Amino acid sequence: MKKVNTQKNLNRHKRILEDKRYLKCLSDIEELEKNRIFCKHNLSHFINVARIATIIWQEEGGRNSLKRDIIYAAGLLHDIGRAEEYTKGTPHEEAGAIIAGEILQSSGYEDKEIEMITRAISAHRIKDDNDIDYLGQIISKADKLSRECFACSASDMCKWSKEKKNKSLEY
Ligand SMILES: [Fe+2]
Ligand SMILES: [Fe+2]
Repeated sequence: MKKVNTQKNLNRHKRILEDKRYLKCLSDIEELEKNRIFCKHNLSHFINVARIATIIWQEEGGRNSLKRDIIYAAGLLHDIGRAEEYTKGTPHEEAGAIIAGEILQSSGYEDKEIEMITRAISAHRIKDDNDIDYLGQIISKADKLSRECFACSASDMCKWSKEKKNKSLEY
């Protein structure tokens, strides 16, 4: 019997990790944040956001308009514009959406999916959920939940309010 590949079309995010531009952005951010005492915007953060957003999506019923590798793409790319924010002052969600569009195209995502992912990246700092579509909402939630405020030595100096900080490990 022919084996059915249930993972088909779920693994395009792996191509993002091999993309030259992606790797260059990661190393630029690492260099620019080398003296940063607060949360870094590194690959671990990106993967944490991708995984937490996926858990939230599954907990909320796993709506069909999304696929795992779409959520992973949004997680892996949501802060990719950080280096441009540090060097040129462009808000990272704006710079990130442009860079992400190029990387997604060469990673095999379809135009409609690219539009959805870049829209989520552009919106990931908007506070009101009503102004963001679903992918943006779960990425934004996961972004906040991913931070380990409860174990952070720079917590007292962080600009996040007491209420916003994660007091314990939820995900
Ligand atoms: Fe961000
Ligand atoms: Fe983030």
